Amino acid sequence: MSVKAIQKSYVQSEALCFYRENINEGLSAEEIQFTQAYFQINQSILLIGAGGGREVAALKDQGFQLFGVDLSLEMTQITQSVKGAHLSVASAVSLPFKNKCFDHVWFSDSVYCQIPGRENRQKALKGAMALLKPDGFLTVDCRPLTSEITSSPLWKTVPGAVVHRLRVLKQWLLGNFSAREAGDTEIVENGVKKFYHFFRSPKEIEQEFQAAGFKVVECLSGLWILKYLK
Ligand SMILES: C[S@@+](CC[C@H](N)C(=O)[O-])C[C@H]1O[C@@H](n2cnc3c(N)ncnc32)[C@H](O)[C@@H]1O
Repeated sequence: MSVKAIQKSYVQSEALCFYRENINEGLSAEEIQFTQAYFQINQSILLIGAGGGREVAALKDQGFQLFGVDLSLEMTQITQSVKGAHLSVASAVSLPFKNKCFDHVWFSDSVYCQIPGRENRQKALKGAMALLKPDGFLTVDCRPLTSEITSSPLWKTVPGAVVHRLRVLKQWLLGNFSAREAGDTEIVENGVKKFYHFFRSPKEIEQEFQAAGFKVVECLSGLWILKYLK
């Protein structure tokens, strides 16, 4: 799965239309809880996956220094319709900012699970770590696969989830262990066919964060609030 393939996921008119309409939906209950508990006026916040503008629209005018990046130019353009953040097109795996300049780095909805390959996800976490001020927080929206997901209509639309698993098995049998990880799949959501890595348990997620040098401060229904170990 290349960067281009992820960008392509977010240029289809159906998807752009969905995010345009969703821009004023506001934050979820746990996002409100997290921002109220951790964000303070004048703090600098980097939102990764800022495209679509939902979080920027909800957080503007609250006295934060808001910065956003997104891989998709088209999704970034939707966000530009809301004044209130400094936006750029960039990948979570290669963030174009100076070290130690943010109080918070936040991987928004789905972004972390859309980074293909553990190696790339570790790179993204370590990149975020370098950008955080000494007492900064990293927040990652990342939910493990649950029976709720596998029994939802969304899961049933996964084209050939079983076929994907067989492909992974075939690659492994051929000795190509890095081709795909168990948990990698493609889902169709809001008209977007996208890559998604499903972690199997909260423990698996936590271990990945720990491997990059973070400790978990709190987990609010899938929003992981992390600090790095100094
Ligand atoms: C679910 S969407 C929209 C999230 C949006 N902020 C919201 O909740 O309305 C996820 C966004 O993350 C972006 N994205 C996916 N992978 C990314 C990556 N590796 N780096 C930066 N942005 C990425 C996509 O282009 C897309 O705009």
